[in-house]
Amino acid sequence: MRRLIKNNVNWIGYIDWELESFHGDDYSIFNGSSQNAYLIEEEKTVLIDTIWTPHRFDYVENLKSEIDLNKIDFVVANHGECDHSGALMALMPELKPGTPIYCTANAVKSIEGQYGKRGWNFQVVKTGDSVEIGNNKKLIFVEMRMLHWPDSMATYLTGDNILFSNDAFGQHFAVEELFNDKADQCLLYKEAMKYFVNILNPFAAILAKKLDEIAKLNLDIDIIATSHGAIWRDNPMQIVKKYAEWANAYQENQVTVAYDTMWEGTAKIAHKISEEIARQSPDTVVKVFNIAKADKNEMMTELFKSKAIAVGSPTVGNSILSSVMGWIEFAKQLKFKNKKAAAFGCYGWSGESVKILQEKLKDAGFNVIDENIKAAWTMTDEDAAKIPELVKSLLA
Ligand code: FEO
Repeated sequence: MRRLIKNNVNWIGYIDWELESFHGDDYSIFNGSSQNAYLIEEEKTVLIDTIWTPHRFDYVENLKSEIDLNKIDFVVANHGECDHSGALMALMPELKPGTPIYCTANAVKSIEGQYGKRGWNFQVVKTGDSVEIGNNKKLIFVEMRMLHWPDSMATYLTGDNILFSNDAFGQHFAVEELFNDKADQCLLYKEAMKYFVNILNPFAAILAKKLDEIAKLNLDIDIIATSHGAIWRDNPMQIVKKYAEWANAYQENQVTVAYDTMWEGTAKIAHKISEEIARQSPDTVVKVFNIAKADKNEMMTELFKSKAIAVGSPTVGNSILSSVMGWIEFAKQLKFKNKKAAAFGCYGWSGESVKILQEKLKDAGFNVIDENIKAAWTMTDEDAAKIPELVKSLLA
């Protein structure tokens, strides 16, 4: 089924209400997702992206029910990741032989790397290249290198002023009505931020430059047609402005306390620290997570919003709990900037956890404060008396 986006541009994608995870199990999904692909019917008939491999036959059948596949003049592949290129495997054999695929040089590598060399007619494009599609309209290509793959690009349709942004500005969020003004606004921004943090934040510096470059192109943008989630038609620049804010060492007045615990000793310190934050700074939002139990992508989104974090683990095997070790490694990958961190934990005998936490947090890019809580067996009054100083330093 096609759904109208504007004039001769229709959505032909897949809304997946049942999806529970993405990138294997690395990205949790609680509100569905979609793979948005588009059909443009001007003098030329063009497909913008396709959908994920498991749905490739549904996609081709859906297209066949809407148009004669022999009418398709070319395909634009904005990105080679299989959630957008996977249906090419089913689609290309159905199209006229030699149907061009417009994409970046890196996309040729990623598409052929995944599906093998199949003799497809790749037409390599770079920023500023364009192709006429008739009725005085053309498609202009904009490379989006490392946002979030080396092959990523966006495509701009003149006349209708639609930016097909692919992954950028998307969300893993199912919106049956397609458009941002129809979506639950709270969930829309929650999912947009989660997507930004977990997928794009490592490339925030590149993103900030790219947003400037796009602004200099002076494109009138009426619609940002993403490849996942809501399509931005109501004030589409709102998400561009948000991205500029998020890409610049974003933080809110929030502190996150994250820990894992074996026999509740470290958990008690965590809760004492969170109570003290609320006491010293009632306006500061405090979030507390057990790292082993909470969803890691949701936690990272809360970390992103935080100006400071306190991380706890007991000592085990002369080290820290494996859950906390993996969690810090994930935080390191996401390249957070401008955030303070403190360490705490219980121990029975050797007591290495606090020092290891401090080293790991420093290595992950956090500004680690000296104040810490290292409690033998369980928190004593003497240990608890150190918490106000630790919190004062975190909040300063
Ligand atoms: Fe939605 Fe990078 O794929």
